[in-house]
Amino acid sequence: MSKLRLGVNIDHVATVRNARGESYPDPVRAAELALAAGADGITAHLREDRRHISDADIDQLAVICRKRGRPLNFECAVTPEMEAIALKHRPHAACLVPERREEVTTEGGLNVAGGHNTIAPVVKRMVEAGIRVSCFIDADLAQVAASKAVGAQVVELHTGAYCEAVRHGHRDQAERLLENLRAAAGEAARLGLEVHAGHGIDYETVKPVAAIPELAELNIGHFLIGEAIFIGLGPAIQRMRALMDEARAQVAA
Ligand code: PXP
Repeated sequence: MSKLRLGVNIDHVATVRNARGESYPDPVRAAELALAAGADGITAHLREDRRHISDADIDQLAVICRKRGRPLNFECAVTPEMEAIALKHRPHAACLVPERREEVTTEGGLNVAGGHNTIAPVVKRMVEAGIRVSCFIDADLAQVAASKAVGAQVVELHTGAYCEAVRHGHRDQAERLLENLRAAAGEAARLGLEVHAGHGIDYETVKPVAAIPELAELNIGHFLIGEAIFIGLGPAIQRMRALMDEARAQVAA
């Protein structure tokens, strides 16, 4: 079983910065710190409304990730504007996500099965530009198959519903949702897709998710940035990394 990579999403450093319209805290500085603390890559979501990460942040993140030889995972909606930005920067990876302006966060997965004709050409152009493309989907076998059909090389499974069920103490529902994640990961791997997961993961939910053997990468943001307020970003990332490694070691044993 391969080592599970940790991508740190630094969007919410920008959320705090933008709350005051100031130039600090700087998400690029957070990205540098995250890489120094053991993050395998940086994830950033340039939303259409620019509510957190800005175009200038992406410009700088692309430079520092390239300089450090670490992957930048550019999360974006499937729009001509975002495609043009991705093609300009040619980040290591692009994760296609659904976006609704009124949502607080990315609430569900991308409907790849229902959007084949719109999504497939975008995936094709990005892949041809050398970008590794993932579709952020719910743990649903039809969406896994559709992601393969549009030409994505990766799927990222949305763990938000599972993590929320755990936090609310809905144990049976959480177990069912975890089982769906396991089944979707197994099917994606069977189809030759690389499997990632993310959204809502904290110190409690990271271990059951990390124990899914097909997973190659987790992308974690909001919880780590919150925890950084109390213990610092580096220690929060190191603790998350240690929990991921523990979960993998237990599966391997
Ligand atoms: N992966 C994707 C595709 C996301 O959209 C997000 C949230 O922006 C995350 C991972 C990270 O989620 P969280 O910030 O809840 O850890």
